[in-house]
Amino acid sequence: MTDQSSNAMWGGRFAAGPDAIMEAINASIGFDKRLAPQDIAGSRAHAAMLAATGILRDSDAAAIREGLLTVLSEIEAGSFPFRTDLEDIHMNVEARLKELIGDPAGRLHTARSRNDQVSTDFRLWVRDQCDAAVDGLRALIGALLVQAEAGADWVMPGFTHLQTAQPVTWGHHMMAYVEMFGRDMGRFRDARARMNESPLGAAALAGTSFPIDRHMTATALGFDRPAANSLDAVSDRDFALEFLSAASICAVHLSRFAEELVIWSSAQFRFVTLSDRFSTGSSIMPQKKNPDAAELIRAKIGRILGATVALFTVMKGLPLAYSKDMQEDKEQVFDAADSLMLSLAAMDGMVRDMTANRGALETAAASGFSTATDLADWLVRVLDLPFREAHHVTGTLVAMAERKGCDLPELTLAEMQGIHAGITADVFEVLGVQNSVASRTSYGGTAPDQVRAQVARWKEKLG
Ligand code: ARG
Repeated sequence: MTDQSSNAMWGGRFAAGPDAIMEAINASIGFDKRLAPQDIAGSRAHAAMLAATGILRDSDAAAIREGLLTVLSEIEAGSFPFRTDLEDIHMNVEARLKELIGDPAGRLHTARSRNDQVSTDFRLWVRDQCDAAVDGLRALIGALLVQAEAGADWVMPGFTHLQTAQPVTWGHHMMAYVEMFGRDMGRFRDARARMNESPLGAAALAGTSFPIDRHMTATALGFDRPAANSLDAVSDRDFALEFLSAASICAVHLSRFAEELVIWSSAQFRFVTLSDRFSTGSSIMPQKKNPDAAELIRAKIGRILGATVALFTVMKGLPLAYSKDMQEDKEQVFDAADSLMLSLAAMDGMVRDMTANRGALETAAASGFSTATDLADWLVRVLDLPFREAHHVTGTLVAMAERKGCDLPELTLAEMQGIHAGITADVFEVLGVQNSVASRTSYGGTAPDQVRAQVARWKEKLG
């Protein structure tokens, strides 16, 4: 045995130590050190179970459990001597445990493998991230509800094709995002519930001949049950794929909202003013206030979806059970989770700080013939015109207003009657944007009362 190989855990099998390139491609400690708290929690649960089942002497298990706490405190204090030659977090922790407590450390790995160990650690980590995502979304939804309630009856243009379509309320627009982020919350909750099975005790792939108690470790680690198939338990990364998928959809929602904030905060729109805290100035153009946070949130979907595609690609075609390819799962998930949590926090802060410019919203709402549909509906309701004809009459009036360079309410009654003799002065009522939104009282519609009802429903839901 060479000096170098004596460091490796499998020193008995190999004559020479790994060369530097092998070490570099093989090692994951540079990133999987983030799993240290989960690794130690898993090992402590495993040791307690080994003692309870009589596989380990109580004194050894106690020394292991105590020693692992020392290791954890060293890691937390930043004094832990991480070693690349020890490959990953699992072997780093175990080697340090041996230095601290001596021989009993060698008994910790009884009836388990790094395959079930890493799957357990990673699940625990991703499970925490599901909770963090739910918390982040809850905060963001809270911020949107404040905006929606304040502006339940503020009128703004609603768009399709980014062309003025019909007036909507500010509150209604905010609540559209509440629905999206609410579904995102549901996806993270669903993913968490599905992933909450313990791989620990699946060992390398086949289970173990030791009389372990997998229910005991599952319970200790907050899992609902042990995973039922040991091959599946070590080779499954669905939980990570599902987290990334939920994160990608959420990032799409964040990106769409961010894009709207970028547009709305421009000098051309002035629908919102973003706070200085979430904007930056330009180094050359003194007048500029750039919505950088919104732009970065808009962009984060790139890395989050990138991570998702990367892990799907890694997992595709892998035979059962564990393959080292799967070590490539972690950096993707770490980066995606970090990006998502940061985006959620930034969006929450931006929404809390932003001011909707009610006047600008209302002015914009009234322009672009936004009440043309209201006019057509009026022709149907009051004059009993077939909708197609009403559409045609309205289109002619819009064209007339366009030629005159005015909006629909500025046409005179005589001008309107020139197109359809039956039109009366009552029509002006529906041409106002306030009346337009107030009339859209169908369930889920833009009327202020509907918006208030939805705000109340969400407040109750979030408790
Ligand atoms: N560092 C490894 C990973 O992240 C741990 C599992 C290693 N298992 C093995 N049989 N080599 O996947």
